Order: sequence, then structure tokens, then C-alpha cells
Amino acid sequence: MAEWTECMNFGMAIAREASEVILEAFKAKKDVMLKSSPADLVTETDQRVEKMLISSIRARYPAHKFIGEESVAAGEKLELTEAPTWIIDPIDGTVNFVHRFPFVAISIAFAVNKQTEFGIVYSCVEDKMYWAQRGRGAFMNDVSLHASGQQDITKSLVVTEIGAERDDVALSTMTTNIMNLLKVPIQGIRAVGTAAVDMVLVATGGADAYYHIGMHCWDIAASALIVQESGGVVLDTDGTEFDMMSRKVIAASSMPVAKRIAQVVRAFPCARDDECPNGMDNDCHGISNGQCCQGI
Ligand code: IPD
Repeated sequence: MAEWTECMNFGMAIAREASEVILEAFKAKKDVMLKSSPADLVTETDQRVEKMLISSIRARYPAHKFIGEESVAAGEKLELTEAPTWIIDPIDGTVNFVHRFPFVAISIAFAVNKQTEFGIVYSCVEDKMYWAQRGRGAFMNDVSLHASGQQDITKSLVVTEIGAERDDVALSTMTTNIMNLLKVPIQGIRAVGTAAVDMVLVATGGADAYYHIGMHCWDIAASALIVQESGGVVLDTDGTEFDMMSRKVIAASSMPVAKRIAQVVRAFPCARDDECPNGMDNDCHGISNGQCCQGI
């Protein structure tokens, strides 16, 4: 709704400010820490940028709530309520950031009553600001975005990621999914290394579809709205309604392409973002590195 336009403009302004910190650190050597797997990385810059974003927003909107990737990793409870909530990934594409592979994004979604009102994906190195407000279209900087409208999977270019989950089941599921899609056949497969940018490529028409399993709500909440507002479709990988907490997503240029991908890809088991993996929901005060605070 138009009432959130001021919040969205503020979100874009602070994303631009925060990107200066990312771009400065991008050139330097980083101290890297591991989270849930050898491919799930965090740096001091991820933590610093998230703190910067949250403290600026809190100063202006003290009643608003937050779900931030690094705050959750540090033990904060991940909970989406009806309250206005900012869902933040300070650096989406941390592996890219560490290696200086030039695709890193700040992803900010804003939800009220559990519905995303706006989404911002700022691809910092490219200086591309992708944004959408519910019911008002999707844009890259000032240019209106339109999904390709492709209806035929065999004429589609598909983006995906192997992701950070590296156990045998996850790896064999992800590689089998790629093989089965190539056999459909699709025209090509790509991976940029940031779920947020991967997914907005569907909104630009540059890719016809994107799917992923195992990413988190902060990776895709903003880009999901951008795809929908560009005329694209967003579903769960089982073909049902998209749920940002399910850790499964298909974004596509059209419903036939989305449904065809849902027929081919399989998901490996992973706990929802809003569920304690140990079933301790009443006593669990936070999930860190995939483990609940009770540590069992
Ligand atoms: C990761 C990236 C990556 C995806 C992983 C995410 P991060 O986010 O989006 O493309 O494959 O599943 O965890 O850790 O760089 O914010």
C-alpha cells in the first residue's frame, strides 16, 4: 500500500549507504568464519552491515520488527508476526564477496500482516537497484521490469544454485535435479551465486526461471515480490503456493514453466525457517547454525 512508500524509499537510501561499506571491504582480504557448512560463510562486513541497517531503521521506526540473517545466526528467534517486519540479508552472496566474484546484493523485504509490501535487492557492484512495491510494478533503477512470458520449458534458460547444504542427500538431490532438467531439455543452466540476484534475473526477462532448495527467507523474500510484480510466477518447488519460510522456491516467467519445473525437481528434507529443527518450539528461543538454543 502507498502508506509504506516512505519506508521503501528509506530502505533504498540506507541500502545505498551500506553498499559503500561492502564495496570498500570487497577489495580487501577478509577474515572468514563458517556457519552451518563449509559453504555457509560470514565475515565481519556481513555483521557490520546488518547492524548498520537495523540501527538506522530502528531509529526511524522504533515499533518495527526484524528478521536478519546474522541476527538469527547469533541466536535471535526467527519469527514473522503480523507486525511490520523488515527481513534483511546484509550480503547475499557472501561466498562471492569473499572471493571478489562481482555479484553481491543487499536484500531487504518488508512485510505487514505476513504479506510482503515491498522488496529491495541492491546488486552493489553492478550498481543495480531492483525494487517492487505490492501492486505497483517492478523496477531496476527507473526502468520497468517484465518477465519474459516464456511458456515453453524447452526454450527456457534456468538459474539455480547448489547452495550451502553439503550433506550427501542435499548434494545428490541438487545435482540430480540439474541433470533431469537438462534432459527435459532446457536450453541452459546458470548460477550467479546470490539467490536474490538469481531470482530478479527472472523479473528482467534475462532468465526464464529460477529454483532453489535450502536457502532462507532473507535470501528470497524481496526478490519474490519483484518477480511477481514483473508478471512472473512464484511457487513452492512442489508446485503449491509460495511460502517464504519453506526454504523452497520456483520463480518463473509463466505458470506452465513453473509447473513443469515442479514436476522435475525434488526437495531434500530441511527444517522450515520458522520451525525449531529439534521440535522444541515452545522452549526454543532461537535457531543458530540450524541448531536450536537448547543444543540437542
Ligand atoms: C546464500 C546465497 C546462495 C544460495 C545459498 C544462500 P548468503 O546466501 O544466496 O546463492 O545458494 O543458499 O545461503 O549466505 O550469501 O547470504
